[in-house]
Amino acid sequence: MVACARVAPMWPIDSSDAVCAWTRAGMESDCAAELVERAAAAGVGGWCRTAEGLVEFHPTPADRLPALARELSFRQLVFTRQWFARFAVCRGLPPDDRVAPLARAAAAIPRSVSAVRIEYPDTDSGRPLARLARALARPLEAAIAKAPGIASDGEGPILHCALLDGGTALLGLSDPANSAPWPLGIPRLRAHRQAPSRSVMKLDEAIARFLNDDERAAWLRPGRTAVDLGAAPGGWTWLLRNYGVTVTAVDNGPLAGPLQEDPRVEHRTEDGFRYRPRRPVDWLVCDMVERPHRIARLLAEWLSRGDCRHAIVNLKLPMKQRWQTVARQLETIAAALPGDGRLLANQLYHDREEITLFVTRAPLTR
Ligand SMILES: C[S@@+](CC[C@H](N)C(=O)[O-])C[C@H]1O[C@@H](n2cnc3c(N)ncnc32)[C@H](O)[C@@H]1O
Repeated sequence: MVACARVAPMWPIDSSDAVCAWTRAGMESDCAAELVERAAAAGVGGWCRTAEGLVEFHPTPADRLPALARELSFRQLVFTRQWFARFAVCRGLPPDDRVAPLARAAAAIPRSVSAVRIEYPDTDSGRPLARLARALARPLEAAIAKAPGIASDGEGPILHCALLDGGTALLGLSDPANSAPWPLGIPRLRAHRQAPSRSVMKLDEAIARFLNDDERAAWLRPGRTAVDLGAAPGGWTWLLRNYGVTVTAVDNGPLAGPLQEDPRVEHRTEDGFRYRPRRPVDWLVCDMVERPHRIARLLAEWLSRGDCRHAIVNLKLPMKQRWQTVARQLETIAAALPGDGRLLANQLYHDREEITLFVTRAPLTR
């Protein structure tokens, strides 16, 4: 029997029962701890239930969810890749027609949606559902377009259909202005086969996630300068050079061949904790493998002294209780930023046991 338990009739999430957050497998407790703490700071109590790669935050009482949606910005969240407010749980979907019951359950929300996304946990057991997700995408969109009361017409929230297994799906909504623009929160980036290391993908994703188009164009172009601490073999330096940025690469290890020949790369075999630029630079990027508090303190020093204007810095987190560690480092760094500066952090898809921070002294222009 198909059972689609409807738990909320309206957007914005007037009576949804839970916020569902996709996170990296193994970091569910960090995602949950962060959601509980940030919700409490916004005046909303609650508790979490976790499954592999997925965290449900249940506000108490449940009618506090709209307050949470108002107060909490998706971009603040470190361990959440994507989120949606759940309004239905569909169980027992028949293998020969999953679409009809899903469309019926979706039609229970009487409004239009701007897009339909079929998602699944980014885990060993969830990834095989990618094929089913692809197969369901068009038929579900078509069924929703025909369903009375709901239309996929480019306006309104995004409808998420989260497959948990072949017979179970969650339905939910997210605000396009307060969620990740990519399904599952995973950006599609082209592979950089010429890059000296796969670490290049972390910096590429950080740029895609943290900078808007205007910022990318203005801050990453010829004439801009950067220091890359812990640069070898040179993936991050290579990407900055692709933007035309002049780079000082600091590492005792060797850079890949083509970077050694590049007149706009200066290789300094020095300790990244001691190196300081003679003149302020536009960018500090740092991927040194070190304890988070040392990296946070180093970044805070660069910011307080005005040695850089923007920074992208990776924090390695091999410990348990990552959220608590991260929260402490964010405080250290925020204290060194001017009032209108910005600090964002995210556990990126291309990160492993680490997160990536973005800091700018520049105020938001749009
Ligand atoms: C993860 S790798 C960096 C990879 C690089 N981002 C890339 O894209 O190719 C870390 C680097 O940090 C360097 N490193 C660690 N501690 C350092 C220090 N105190 N000073 C300078 N480099 C350091 C290591 O030598 C290593 O090359």
